[in-house]
Amino acid sequence: MATGFIPQEIIDEIAAYSDIVEIVNEYVPLKKRGRNFQGLCPFHHEKTPSFTVSPDKQIFRCFGCGVGGNIFSFIMQIEGLNFPEAVEKLAQRAGIPLPKQEMTAAQKEELKQKERWYKINELTAQFYHKILLDTKFGKKALDYLKKRGITAEIIEKFHLGVSLPDWDGLIKFMNKRGVRYKELLELGLILPKNSGRGYYDRFRNRLMFPIWDNASRVIAFGGRVLDDGEPKYLNSPDTPLFNKGYYLYGLHLAKSSIRNEDLAVIVEGYMDVIACHQYGITNVVASLGTALTQQQARALMRHTYNVAIAYDADIAGSNATLRGLDILGDLGCQVRVVNLPKGLDPDEYLRNFGSQEFSKLVAQGENLIEYKLSNAMENVNHASIEGKIKIIQSILPDLYKIDSPVAREGAVKLISNKLGIADTSILSELRKYRQEKQKFPQNKDRNSEKRENKIVNLTDLNKIEVQMLKILFEHNKYFADVEKVGGKELFTSPLNELYQQMVEKFLLKGKVIGSDLNEKDSELLAFVLMNEFDIPNSDKVVADYIKNLQINKLNKDYSNTIKELSEAEKLGDAEGVKKLLSHIEWIIQQKKLLAP
Ligand code: UTP
Ligand code: MN
Repeated sequence: MATGFIPQEIIDEIAAYSDIVEIVNEYVPLKKRGRNFQGLCPFHHEKTPSFTVSPDKQIFRCFGCGVGGNIFSFIMQIEGLNFPEAVEKLAQRAGIPLPKQEMTAAQKEELKQKERWYKINELTAQFYHKILLDTKFGKKALDYLKKRGITAEIIEKFHLGVSLPDWDGLIKFMNKRGVRYKELLELGLILPKNSGRGYYDRFRNRLMFPIWDNASRVIAFGGRVLDDGEPKYLNSPDTPLFNKGYYLYGLHLAKSSIRNEDLAVIVEGYMDVIACHQYGITNVVASLGTALTQQQARALMRHTYNVAIAYDADIAGSNATLRGLDILGDLGCQVRVVNLPKGLDPDEYLRNFGSQEFSKLVAQGENLIEYKLSNAMENVNHASIEGKIKIIQSILPDLYKIDSPVAREGAVKLISNKLGIADTSILSELRKYRQEKQKFPQNKDRNSEKRENKIVNLTDLNKIEVQMLKILFEHNKYFADVEKVGGKELFTSPLNELYQQMVEKFLLKGKVIGSDLNEKDSELLAFVLMNEFDIPNSDKVVADYIKNLQINKLNKDYSNTIKELSEAEKLGDAEGVKKLLSHIEWIIQQKKLLAP
């Protein structure tokens, strides 16, 4: 249980005992390169290592995707933890006890409540499972499963069950065990009767599929009709334990083989996952009938960057495929689409053709451009010129996103061949598209938005400021000189905040280390420190840097004042004009003093 407030001294101590190279190396194999260590970035997909860890500075940074920070932000991002949780994990590792903060009564109750909810779900899963295996009623469902070719072993592995046809099968069972209606209601297992008095079971007369989280706890259920009733599948609603868009069915069973195969197969339904397992294909998860969400994609990306989408070839399936492709593609995954024959889902395909054929299909999956192109060609008349233009227009955003020139050339060739259009025409459309994008930066694609959210436009940062901060980090003695002539004021946002943090740490402790800073500032610091730039080792050169910063500040002041001046002149504000003119005079003098 993460504590709320952790004193800074404890955080410092944890940082001091947590070597960033050693810890990162547990997730990403690192090799020594000069003073730093390098490896493949765990936060985006790459083939050549641009993920760099500095042991001296105790920070990491990826030159590919821009993530960076200290050991706490690394653990937060790779483990999906919040700050107190990351601190707790590193404290445990370092053997540093966190000060015991008494949980409040409310926190204690919350924890107990959660444990009770999990227990009730587990009990419910057992109940359904037992009915399936040990009752006369269960025999019917068991026969159904047999008819579909599902083995006893698989029934165990997925803990399949069946709910009674009664209105209160589960309610009676839980009553005997003293479970309250309130909790069953919170878990979505029962519903209030229309009359307003009493409750009834949500799941009745259905084949039951428990849904697990990553820690293998039962968090929800899916229930399939045993005949052709409606709806075919009924799922738990969102509850305090379950949020449909966050979980992938079967991930807890698939994790290790996804890592081993370095590939995850996404299917639509429960039965697809189950059939895959039965046929020995275990790197499979289901997005449960909806298009893949970002959260689901991220959950997968903790295990692999290679994903094959194997949805039904119907319209709903191909729409979901397109959305899944975009989400995974934007996150940097290599995505393939498995081309199932129309009308067959993976379950049916496996039972008809076996696992070898299925694996072949997975391996032959189309890449993003291939799929989008064939999908567009199926829906648009590509014999006509208008059709060809429409298709190219629809694919331009994807072409534009391809970073590698070689891959882009391949994609252009493919489109050119399939549509019978010269690749120079496609390239010129692409050029136009790029120009439009650059003219209207609000039309940024998702990719660049994502990066900017992360790293505040690092490329726009003032170079001299960046270099000065690096000098200050390496040679703390210059803090005094910078403070004398304006300190924080010499830097612009967001580097001014970083400077402020650095100088405060320096004043407090006599030194600055990466692990002392908050997430945002440590990310910025990582950028600053990993800049290719040799620290000057002469006071004279550093003094020139500081002068430069001062001049920059004066220049900015100057252009602002000029703007104000023309405003004041327009308004006929004589007093204001006089003041501004004398301020301009002052700026000019200051500049002369600095750069005679
Ligand atoms: P399908 O209708 O393709 O079912 O829905 P299926 O998985 O092939 O099931 P079988 O083979 O007929 O038994 C795919 C998935 O969409 C969700 C379920 O997660 C299902 O597994 N779904 C479907 C629902 O949530 N509700 C529905 O009514 C239908
Ligand atoms: Mn099916």
